[in-house]
Amino acid sequence: MEKLLISGGKKLRGSVRVSGAKNAALPIMASTILGHGTHKLRRVPNLRDVFTMGRLLEHLGAEFSLSDSTALINTEDIKGHEAPYDLVRTMRASVLVLGPLLARHGRARVSLPGGCAIGARPINLHLLGLQKMGALISLDKGYVNARTRRLRGANICFDIPTVTGTENLMMAATLAKGLTRLENAAREPEVIDLANALISAGARIEGAGESIIEIEGVKELNSLDYDIIPDRIEAGTFMAAAGITGGEIVMEGVNTEHIAAVVAKLQETGIKFQESEKGLVVRGPQHLRASDVKTMPYPGFPTDMQAQFMALMSVAEGTSVISETIFENRFMHVAELRRMGADINIEGSIATVKGVKSLKGAPVMATDLRASASLVVAALAARGETLIDRIYHLDRGYESIENKLRSLGARIERQKG
Ligand code: EPZ
Repeated sequence: MEKLLISGGKKLRGSVRVSGAKNAALPIMASTILGHGTHKLRRVPNLRDVFTMGRLLEHLGAEFSLSDSTALINTEDIKGHEAPYDLVRTMRASVLVLGPLLARHGRARVSLPGGCAIGARPINLHLLGLQKMGALISLDKGYVNARTRRLRGANICFDIPTVTGTENLMMAATLAKGLTRLENAAREPEVIDLANALISAGARIEGAGESIIEIEGVKELNSLDYDIIPDRIEAGTFMAAAGITGGEIVMEGVNTEHIAAVVAKLQETGIKFQESEKGLVVRGPQHLRASDVKTMPYPGFPTDMQAQFMALMSVAEGTSVISETIFENRFMHVAELRRMGADINIEGSIATVKGVKSLKGAPVMATDLRASASLVVAALAARGETLIDRIYHLDRGYESIENKLRSLGARIERQKG
């Protein structure tokens, strides 16, 4: 299994370009099922999850290629309607083909995603919404079987603002008969990006980014020619890396509007930001100040930045209280940070982090995507060497992270085998 070896203590310096957003690329790739012909998506990140979605689309009968961050997807001959367990279990976002398959074929057989390190992550709200739109849904042998003559518009109110639930139902509604109204919809930038992509293909969607989204079904959609938004979580991760090393980096291609809550929180810790013509300049302070955070649905502080923020606070002056309100088990990084000398106490969904003078390098293990990012951030500032195992988790969501960090002066190398 590949590992990352990091020797900490170097201040990051230089400029880095943010890649396209994984969590926008995945739903937009799934949405190509709704149209015909060849779709062109630019700024698609070269990630494991993108290739998993590409393989799933090929399994359904599409053609997929990715080169130079441009994906070409031909969905003219999509005949399949099954998303098999061996693909879905490696990537829960595979469930995003459910709505499009139902809308295109009137049938879908999609494996339930199964467990996940950070929480149970059920898809009941996806299924409830599709049932309201007229889909007959049954579960058997771990698969969701869904059928409909034609989806019809419905009023759907989510009791939790679910990101992929909003995306699945938005996609299904684009070809349904009549008007669909999604209430308590997720407001993430990735939801807006999916809506903009669908609108560019002829969908009629109002209100994406607000809590109420209305979709008027149309007969068919054209093929996509679309530019994916930059990845706000990758951007936030590099901000934390600059902050923890006391460095100064220039981030190219960041959309600061998408990450306002993270920038505001990082400013509280003493990290400075300045827009320049080259990009967003991020300066780490001599000493980080402790600050509390509570993860919330967008536009609040994103749960996907909680682990990275905790690494930052583990060497801040003072005590930070970090509360995770979205997922029930998103503290898997705590045990590993403790191995590096962090002083963290957990009570339920609340972690209390007492800043220490410095962390010490140690062999640690990645357990999920953002936990592994948190270990990288910690290792960049730790004294000595840190060896991070199971970095396939990291490769799911960060495009060549060691090359980007090395270009910023980090002492980092990938060990094969
Ligand atoms: C998306 O996951 C992201 N993934 C996650 O990013 C992100 O952490 C999450 O949104 C929250 O922002 C993608 O976009 C591919 P949810 P998703 O449905 O859609 C509960 C990463 O690191 N819920 O918004 O699966 C659920 O259990 C990944 O890139 C139900 O109860 O998250 C959770 O507590 C990790 N029933 C809450 O809602 C449902 O039917 C929010 O989950 C759906 C969700």
